[in-house]
Amino acid sequence: MAVPVKSNIMWIGKTDWELRKFHGDEYSTHRGSTYNSYLIREEKTVLIDTVWKPFAQEFVTNLRKIIPLEKIDYVIANHAESDHSGALPDLMKHIPEKPIYCSQNGIKSLKGHYHQDWNFIPIKTGQRLSIGPGKDLIFIEAPMLHWPDSMMEYLTGDHVLFSNDAFGQHYATEYLFNDLVNQDELFSEAIKYYANILTPFSKLVKSKIDEFVQLNLPLDIICTSHGVIWRNNPMQIVQKYLDWSQQYKENQITLIYDTMWNGTRVMAENIAKGIQATDSKVNIKIFNSAKTDKNDLVTEVFRSNMIGIGSPTVNKGILTSVAALLEELRGLGFKDKKAFAFGTYGWNSESVKIISENLKNAGFSVVTDGLKLQWMPNDDESTEKAIEFGKGLKEYF
Ligand code: FEO
Repeated sequence: MAVPVKSNIMWIGKTDWELRKFHGDEYSTHRGSTYNSYLIREEKTVLIDTVWKPFAQEFVTNLRKIIPLEKIDYVIANHAESDHSGALPDLMKHIPEKPIYCSQNGIKSLKGHYHQDWNFIPIKTGQRLSIGPGKDLIFIEAPMLHWPDSMMEYLTGDHVLFSNDAFGQHYATEYLFNDLVNQDELFSEAIKYYANILTPFSKLVKSKIDEFVQLNLPLDIICTSHGVIWRNNPMQIVQKYLDWSQQYKENQITLIYDTMWNGTRVMAENIAKGIQATDSKVNIKIFNSAKTDKNDLVTEVFRSNMIGIGSPTVNKGILTSVAALLEELRGLGFKDKKAFAFGTYGWNSESVKIISENLKNAGFSVVTDGLKLQWMPNDDESTEKAIEFGKGLKEYF
């Protein structure tokens, strides 16, 4: 399917309605995804990115229906990850001499993935490629947004930014443009994408956006590589990225626990009662980490001012779903967020200390020594202790 975007630009990507896991099994895609590829037909014909390998044949077959492959003058590979480069081997079999424009790191990565010595042309930021009267592609390297090879380009005349992964969402839709889709779905996928993929690179997000703004280029459309094309007020997603990149938090406290016999769940619910008793405005959310999608939990942590993590002590350690989440949080490197630990115990009471240490290692500011309660904490005394603990958190948020 080819969809006109603007002037001589068309979308020729693939909508993947089936996809439920991305990056292996690391990222949940409840709403599928799209792999966006673009064809620009000016005096020169340019192909920007391709699609994921399983759709390579389909992609090349469809492309041939639109244009003889030998008519393509330039291929641009903004990013070597295989969801964008996966159809290159099938395509380049037909046009092996055509130049592939990419970053220097892109050459390394594409060679590493496909073991081919294609006609690579390395680009630098600011370099221009003329494709017709008044139509230049200006390349912008974007290392670590989100891989070292990532890059973008801006098309003069049409004022279109091809942003690759930046500003994307894993969101399958038949409507393709941001003004045509459900806005709640769109922004919930956009923030999940940022929280789970771009959080570690927030400083670079801010500086790259500042760099682009300083170029003072008019911006009509952002053509992402996943999800919708931002044609209606594209600066709205740029502004969101600026907000999200600066220690983003909402008025939210999220309690995440795992439990064996419900004791740590009871603690979470009573702590929440205490928080609510001191602040009826704060948004309190409670999740069982063993029953909740990991990426959705990360998104809730991203929204939070403070988190509480709970586990009973098991074998001098903590339950595995909590351990896995703490490892995920350590890798993401959240900044300026408060945290505390809680948990039940029977014979040993190690879990609160272990969780607190992990939270500190993950960069959270641990505000208390946490709360540990023995046996089933549903008697009056334990209930009161958990509620009072929750009330005591007020001074930290
Ligand atoms: Fe959409 Fe980093 O690949």
